[in-house]
Amino acid sequence: MSDQAHRNKSGFETRAIHAGYEPDPMTGAVIPPIYATSTYKQDGVGGMRGGYEYSRSANPTRTALESNLAALEEGERGFAFASGLAAEHTLLKALCRPGDHVVVPNDAYGGTYRLFAKVEEPWGLAYTAAPVSDVGAIRAAIRPGETKVVWMETPTNPLLNIGDIEAVAAVSHDAGALLVVDNTFASPYLQQPLTLGADVVVHSTTKYVGGHSDVVGGALVVRDLEVAEGVAFHQNAIGAVAGPFDAWLTLRGIKTLGVRMDRHCDNAEKVVGFLTGHDSVAEVIYPGLESHSGHEVATRQMKRFGGIVSFRMKAGEQEALDVCARAQVFTLGESLGGVESLIEHPGRMTHASVAGTDLEVPADLIRLSVGIETADDLLADLDQALGG
Ligand SMILES: Cc1ncc(COP(=O)(O)O)c(C=O)c1O
Repeated sequence: MSDQAHRNKSGFETRAIHAGYEPDPMTGAVIPPIYATSTYKQDGVGGMRGGYEYSRSANPTRTALESNLAALEEGERGFAFASGLAAEHTLLKALCRPGDHVVVPNDAYGGTYRLFAKVEEPWGLAYTAAPVSDVGAIRAAIRPGETKVVWMETPTNPLLNIGDIEAVAAVSHDAGALLVVDNTFASPYLQQPLTLGADVVVHSTTKYVGGHSDVVGGALVVRDLEVAEGVAFHQNAIGAVAGPFDAWLTLRGIKTLGVRMDRHCDNAEKVVGFLTGHDSVAEVIYPGLESHSGHEVATRQMKRFGGIVSFRMKAGEQEALDVCARAQVFTLGESLGGVESLIEHPGRMTHASVAGTDLEVPADLIRLSVGIETADDLLADLDQALGG
């Protein structure tokens, strides 16, 4: 067994640290160089070294990241993009044609919904929104022959609804559609959709995979070589690729994904404990709570329940805005999944683009991305922000 193949069979943390790159044979460099090059010297016309020709098509730093991602998600091939949305758009171009239909979550990330509603639908791709947690509704939304893709997020952003990946994969495949799972919220450490029957995994690597709020990126991992060929063609033809420095930063973040995720989960559980039963809080939404409607499915398909906690304020929207303004250790900002804790008001911030649609989120909702700071400092900050 080659060293690489051996690593692909290793534990998650070993793959996160080693998969995709062997120390450089010439120098022994343990970390892949940032190949800041657009082109490659050919040994005679067509005589490419290692297949490298032009950096939109392939770049060794990006190759290291792509191979690593494939190993983490247990897929056939990985692809790295300039952003999560660039990955999504490229995938839809690879899988769909005008006249096709897709089923999308009725509480998808606002930017994903905007992509479907404002970019893909005018191009000719029809969509129907259905709740990810309702397999029957997804089955009913499928148009046999026309539906090419069922798109899932689980947990969803920001309401943390849970979809049953195995069950939705079966329903999708029965209808001849592929199942695409946006695994951004769970990260490959907590959930591996391809092993549960999904065909393609999508990531905004901007979030947990990169983990340090210092790089925007996206990824696709596929389990079928034919789908991989279509994605590879469109990745090159559309050209929304990750640059070498971004690929390097993302790969550096991945090395600590396992330890970061465990601490995100530890801290999130403490935050949930603090918020549950707090006088000002109407409802705490976290898949780790037995009261959460998706708890049983989440327990089956996730290792732990993640670092995102959403909650609703009894006193309504203004109080939710005030809590966001008073928080100090929790930084008021969009995005999630970095080592630092963030707080946001989805209705006015990340999900403003779905206001007035079926996907509108409650105005009294606050979303926390619980970071890996000292837990007591996070609880003290929430206590003062909630007026304790
Ligand atoms: C679940 C989810 N998917 C996709 C995206 C889009 O990724 P990006 O912002 O990297 O384009 C986001 C961004 O917030 C997200 O939360």
